[in-house]
Amino acid sequence: MNSQQTELLKKSSSSRFMGMGKILDWERTPIGIKGKTENGFFQLSIFDQSIIRVQASLLDEFNPNPYSVVMEPNEAPFEVSESNDFLILKTSEIQAKVDSQKFAVSFFDKTGNLLNQDDSLGISWIGTEVSCYKKVQEDEKFIGLGEKTGNLNRAGNAYTNWNTDYFAYGTGDDPLYMSIPFYIGVHQKGAYGIFFDNTHKSVFNFGASTNRFIYFSAEDGEMDYYFIHEKVVGGIISKYTELTGKMQLPPKWSLGFQQCRYSYYPDSEVKTLAQTFRDKDMPADVIYLDIHHMEAYKVFTFDSIKFSDPKSLITYLKSKGFRVVVIMDPGIKTEKGYLPYEEGKEKDLFVKYPDGAEYQAQVWPGWCAFPDFTKEETRTWWAEKMAFYTEAGVDGFWTDMNEPASWGQHTPNLIEFDFEGDVSSHRKARNIYGMQMARSAQEGAVWNKKEERPFVLTRSGFSGIQRYAAAWTGDNVASEEHMLAGIRLVNSLGLSGVAFAGYDVGGFAGEASKSLFARWMSIGAFTPLYRAHSMINSNDAEPWAFGEEVEEISRNYMKLRYRLLPTIYSKFHSSAQTGLPINASLAISNPLDSKIYLSAYQNQYMFCDSFLVAPVESTKEITKVYLPKGSWYYLFSDEKYAGEKEIYQDCPLNYLPVFVKAGSIFSMQSDVSNTEEMHDGILRIHLYAQDEGESHFTHYEDDGKTFDYQDGAFFKRELIYQAEESKLSLEKASGKQKSSFNKVRVYLHGFNTDLIFVNGESQALSTEDYAFLGKLTEFDPLPEHDHPYHEISSLKFVEFEHLPEKIELSGLF
Ligand code: NOJ
Repeated sequence: MNSQQTELLKKSSSSRFMGMGKILDWERTPIGIKGKTENGFFQLSIFDQSIIRVQASLLDEFNPNPYSVVMEPNEAPFEVSESNDFLILKTSEIQAKVDSQKFAVSFFDKTGNLLNQDDSLGISWIGTEVSCYKKVQEDEKFIGLGEKTGNLNRAGNAYTNWNTDYFAYGTGDDPLYMSIPFYIGVHQKGAYGIFFDNTHKSVFNFGASTNRFIYFSAEDGEMDYYFIHEKVVGGIISKYTELTGKMQLPPKWSLGFQQCRYSYYPDSEVKTLAQTFRDKDMPADVIYLDIHHMEAYKVFTFDSIKFSDPKSLITYLKSKGFRVVVIMDPGIKTEKGYLPYEEGKEKDLFVKYPDGAEYQAQVWPGWCAFPDFTKEETRTWWAEKMAFYTEAGVDGFWTDMNEPASWGQHTPNLIEFDFEGDVSSHRKARNIYGMQMARSAQEGAVWNKKEERPFVLTRSGFSGIQRYAAAWTGDNVASEEHMLAGIRLVNSLGLSGVAFAGYDVGGFAGEASKSLFARWMSIGAFTPLYRAHSMINSNDAEPWAFGEEVEEISRNYMKLRYRLLPTIYSKFHSSAQTGLPINASLAISNPLDSKIYLSAYQNQYMFCDSFLVAPVESTKEITKVYLPKGSWYYLFSDEKYAGEKEIYQDCPLNYLPVFVKAGSIFSMQSDVSNTEEMHDGILRIHLYAQDEGESHFTHYEDDGKTFDYQDGAFFKRELIYQAEESKLSLEKASGKQKSSFNKVRVYLHGFNTDLIFVNGESQALSTEDYAFLGKLTEFDPLPEHDHPYHEISSLKFVEFEHLPEKIELSGLF
């Protein structure tokens, strides 16, 4: 043992606090500074004008997580200066001031506002546990941290990052399946984000059991965090996704309605299911095959009796406009003669004990071996094996149980993973395992179907998971509080870079009441991933299984979802570029408005920029809604409200409180039964009057499934509404593809004029009684049980050819 190792052993075996101590020496590096303190080593690096990375280690070397960050430092100019007490690193946007006595870092914006500051205890260790203690700024709110239950503002609570299989978790329980150690702090002086890039079990404590500081710590590894500052919260999320990667544009079919059950079988039941959607005129795109499609739950098999001819089944489903997603669990049955097991063993692809013996644990198939997805060879092998599914016509992949889960829920920490050649124990590898499985699944999907965009849905993940998969929130419960908790989970994932997320509509465990299912279907329509799922041994939970009324309400919202597809797809496209969520917590647009954090309002969010969704329990008929700054229109009647007000809103089961922000522009199409069915050729643009200001909407189309859009095969145009000029311009379109719409109809909400000008030529407006949702059939003969119905009477509209050249509408009063 050399002297450095002896020293390290001494330090890490102590059970007492040890800070970094005084800076002893430092030097400039091409991207920042590095140096030595009494007890450790540090490095501060400029990744970008608005990102500074802070690393601290007990060793004179750093061992970063190879999986999450995809950004390279971009050589932004910076200055370094030193005074008696401080070392200062400065970019055009941020300043990091390091106290050289204690190695405590303070971050300021370019005008000198203090954004974030270490407590004097700074970065420190207790044995191998490494922590960073931070002061709380006045009235500071903490948001994000990915798939975490609890309040939007995380102040006062602590959370653990340790990917966990948690059936029927409670709405306050932690940890769940996915870990994203990234949060955003907001206060009067500004906002910042911190991504703690350490895959070990970590804790974020925002003031639980202490009033001195907040902190984040990991049980081992290094202090390695990225400090991000942008003026607005959205800018911080965008930067975080530059760092950890963006969602890829998914295939359009994955934005349609998805039906799942644990499990649909045999094949005849799956066919009946597909046919029922069509017979009932309920648009849908995806059917999932859960674990009962397999032979004895063995991955890469189909049950020879229940699914004797998967190819014909899938061909049939495709003829009905359905895509099939299959489940893939990591556990491989340790059965002699079962090829995936034999191959994996022979090629040395499984997770092992330190003595080289194969690690086995029990999951659905019984005793299993676990592919080591932290090894490239394993990922490639798995990806190639997926040809088994793609040859049968499968289009999407669902990576489940990838925490990894096993019965007993207590994986021994000594098992070892390749970790890209840096062999590491379960302590370091667990949190990253699920993400690497999702990565392999995505690679397999693309490898085996080169021309089509992949769709992977994952349960487990870590920072950067958005590059590979959409996420769902696991085994929720059919209860009102779970429905609302799921919304917060999805909103929090959105604050943490995962834009494509959803929950099991209807609840996985337990039985939804009729009203709960109806409400959940309506909220789900305004969620990136719109998927219903329910577990084995529960009642049927398809949208027609709850009686006529629920069926009609569900159909109404499913149809609305499909009519909104032009907007949703356009938003996914922009989200893939900006990293911003589809479901945006109001903390993005109104971070300093304390009302939005109140428990009554914290579930509200913006869907696709225009729609304020105020989720509410199905048991309520009236609810309070907080409308933030701006003016708002109740979607279903156009009733207008001033913002920064709490209002009472009726919320009968068939009307979810949804409001449109004044100034909004969004697009719709005619009813279709699935995303690949052709609409009627008329693009419906909805424009909402506002008194002042400018608003934008980017309309985007492409073939919805291939990668051709990357070579310019798309149709994209910017729509700009300038209120003071009373003008809406449809800017000249870009891209090589023609629009699928040959006409545009612009609906004018909140305008008075009867005449407008299209490219300077006057055009009289037509009117239509317009309803976003159909009228419910009155099944109940008693008139007092009639359902409310809203339509916007005499809504004005104008229709013209959808030419790619610039089109200007003026005279919009
Ligand atoms: C656990 C998943 O969370 C659930 O969605 C799935 O249905 C079951 N595993 C069975 O595969």
